[in-house]
Amino acid sequence: MKGSVKWQSPSNIALVKYWGKKGFQIPANASISFTLSNCHTTTELKWTKSDSPELTVFLDGHENAAFKPKVAAYFEKIAQDYPIIKEYAFEIHTSNTFPHSSGIASSASGMSALALCTCSLLETLDVLQKPFFEEASNLARIGSGSASRSVYGGLVEWGQHPDYAGSSDLFAVPYSDVHPVFHTYQDTILLVHEGQKSVSSSVGHGLLDNHPFSDKRFEIAQQNMSKLKQILSNGDLDSFVELIESEALMLHGLMMTSSPSFILMLPNTLAIIQKIQHFRKQNDCHIAFTLDAGANVHMLYPEKDVDKARRLIDNELAALCANGQYICDTVGTGPTKL
Ligand code: PMV
Repeated sequence: MKGSVKWQSPSNIALVKYWGKKGFQIPANASISFTLSNCHTTTELKWTKSDSPELTVFLDGHENAAFKPKVAAYFEKIAQDYPIIKEYAFEIHTSNTFPHSSGIASSASGMSALALCTCSLLETLDVLQKPFFEEASNLARIGSGSASRSVYGGLVEWGQHPDYAGSSDLFAVPYSDVHPVFHTYQDTILLVHEGQKSVSSSVGHGLLDNHPFSDKRFEIAQQNMSKLKQILSNGDLDSFVELIESEALMLHGLMMTSSPSFILMLPNTLAIIQKIQHFRKQNDCHIAFTLDAGANVHMLYPEKDVDKARRLIDNELAALCANGQYICDTVGTGPTKL
């Protein structure tokens, strides 16, 4: 038996960050993100029933040995619940809309696209144990925690939290009690660094296990989730800006104070942050920043500030980006089956 399926799945940017785990791929605190639109991965999974299950991974049309161990480990884990997949050989073709070397985390879009393909296969084999997107999010989480949030559009919450009905550590849920200002939020990703990240996020999460501030961090993150819930429903952008910038700096503060410590911000990351904060004060707007586990800056702003953001980028920020590069993105509607 042979078959194939293709999914396109977006990246996401967290507002309250997931950083630290308790047990296998269980988040130490809840997190919430905007799903993006233009930054996405397209993955085709081809399967063939086989006595000698094999796995081949192609990135942008070229066989890629570097990705194979991660994908093999993912299938190994999935096979614990769905042993039938061991009876198949797989060929995977994947490509990203953003350059792999851009430093943009491709794991959220990449692992969610693969999880959606896996779910389509399990559905075809008539063995899917849970509703399609719930299981897709659960399988994506096994590949990469943040990927669990990429299977839905808009705002997406992952991790058990008393204020978020239906929330779970095992899968993400779409969050819709949201003021219209957040439906069209903008994210301009300022590419400060083109190389690979110097620390993998799995190593980073692990460093929270013995971190002197971890308990306090997990407590604050849960509180920030409560605060953000109010902000998301009332559209209070001043409070939104304050909260997301604090979350970004706390994430990097944790990295800088772990043992061993690491600094992922580069001089131009800081320069951009300061220019954004200065511009905001001078221009009465809600242009703010957040950060992933890397040097790039995500500049988040409401649609009403698009013209001001354009001016800030053209006049000040593009010059601080590697080769002047940045990516304009917006909140998106989630994955599509192609
Ligand atoms: O999904 P991971 O294990 O690569 O962790 C990602 C963690 C952050 O991007 C830093 C924060 C988040 O919640 O996305």
